[in-house]
Amino acid sequence: MAKNKKSEDPKQDKGSGTKLISMRIPKETISKLRKVAEKKGDMGYQQVIKSYINLGLIDELDDDLKAVQTALAKQQPGQASTVAIPQKQEPKAEPLQSPVKSPAKPKTAGAPKRNSLGELATSKVITEDIKELAKSLDGYYHLFAGKTFLITGAFGFLGRYMVFLLKYLNENVLSRKAKALLLDNFVTGYEQRVISDENLAFYRADVVKPFSTDEPIDYLIHAAGIASPVYYTKYPIETMDVGTLGTRNMLELARIKNVKSFLFTSSSEVYGDPDPKHVPTKEDYYGNVSILGPRSCYDESKRFGETMCMTYWKVFNVPVKMVRPFNVYGPGIRPDDYRVLPNFIEHALRKEPLPIHGEGKNTRSFCYINDALEALFKVLFSKANGEAFNIGNPAPEISVKDLGAMVAEFMPYKVDVVNIDPPHTVYASADPKRRCPDISKLTKVTGFKPRYPLEEGLVRTIKWFREFNF
Ligand SMILES: NC(=O)c1ccc[n+]([C@@H]2O[C@H](COP(=O)([O-])OP(=O)(O)OC[C@H]3O[C@@H](n4cnc5c(N)ncnc54)[C@H](O)[C@@H]3O)[C@@H](O)[C@H]2O)c1
Repeated sequence: MAKNKKSEDPKQDKGSGTKLISMRIPKETISKLRKVAEKKGDMGYQQVIKSYINLGLIDELDDDLKAVQTALAKQQPGQASTVAIPQKQEPKAEPLQSPVKSPAKPKTAGAPKRNSLGELATSKVITEDIKELAKSLDGYYHLFAGKTFLITGAFGFLGRYMVFLLKYLNENVLSRKAKALLLDNFVTGYEQRVISDENLAFYRADVVKPFSTDEPIDYLIHAAGIASPVYYTKYPIETMDVGTLGTRNMLELARIKNVKSFLFTSSSEVYGDPDPKHVPTKEDYYGNVSILGPRSCYDESKRFGETMCMTYWKVFNVPVKMVRPFNVYGPGIRPDDYRVLPNFIEHALRKEPLPIHGEGKNTRSFCYINDALEALFKVLFSKANGEAFNIGNPAPEISVKDLGAMVAEFMPYKVDVVNIDPPHTVYASADPKRRCPDISKLTKVTGFKPRYPLEEGLVRTIKWFREFNF
């Protein structure tokens, strides 16, 4: 942090003339974070600090931050806190890598122990979630049995729950095991969270390059993407590439392999900033998306990705489905990617005021991860080829301000909120005012209804953050 700067000094973006931020991170907070990070060998705090640097909330590395960086540099691969926000790399023409094994067990004294679901599932909350998710898909087990899945973005937030689910089904339910090819390039995934075994093969692969395999593929889930505004602002080209070229490569693979079903994780962002007349939003709404705005690299790549899926269905009969998730949250979400819920929880647990952009009037509807994945698999296994589905929980449509109050209520101590200027144009001028899905099409086709009210999902998510002392 700049030593002589007043903590309330706004930083000016000279290019656009917009005020970027009026809240700075106090030095005491950084010290606290550093101490916990060192003690626990815990990545969460270090990631949080890095995201602050990314967002321009901290200007310079002072001694405390340098200590964090040195600690990070000393860690061995495979330790719990090795993965930092990745540096941009020039694309290289690499041959396809063979499957790699899970990294060595963390040696850090305070590192969490593993159990059969892998590193993260030492979490009681996640273990319970996976059991419940498996139960919610009872009736679909025969569609998993003996099949091969290919999952891209397999070590992101949604991807890892898919992997946990397959592993759980293999260990507890299926006599004919499901196999999976798990692809990720870790542009935003946590590398130490790789799980692999004789049925689950991990490939470090960038889907922007064609991928080939001798394995048959029954189901292809293309979940790779750069979903957080903080990251797609940092990696706009990679964001467009994964949604367009990556989708094309995966569709081509699906065509060659004659898959039973192909699922593309699009986004509710295809609707842009919807006309209030179209909220709750149905799938047939065309959207209101800026072509050139700060979010367009993400929004337009998902829109084009959907168009490409539809075209592969029409031209080659590839059985595609597209899902448009609305603000999925839950255990395992990165605490540092500045999505509103993890951001609030992480501040609340540090007993710091929750930062609310402006007056916090924008609304969102949040979908617990188990609900999102139940819906996603039900769409994958459906016969709804060439169709797009909203995935979300329409109730409640809640303002960011009320969400802050709700998170604060769950804390055993008083938590304040603070209104700040949005730290980036991606939030300042382009943040959609309302987001709420109409899921009647999803319910009609798959029978899906959300099971997790926001309160319950929040309690579970906070519990997970606490388990890992974020
Ligand atoms: N979580 C949500 O609320 C939400 C909402 C709408 C859409 N989505 C979409 O759902 C998908 C999964 O979301 P998530 O929350 O798990 O995101 P995430 O960022 O946690 O995970 C995405 C994963 O994709 C990987 N990836 C990115 N580019 C890649 C590439 N070129 N090759 C290989 N791997 C690559 C990343 O490393 C990461 O592990 C994304 O496509 C996202 O755009 C998510």
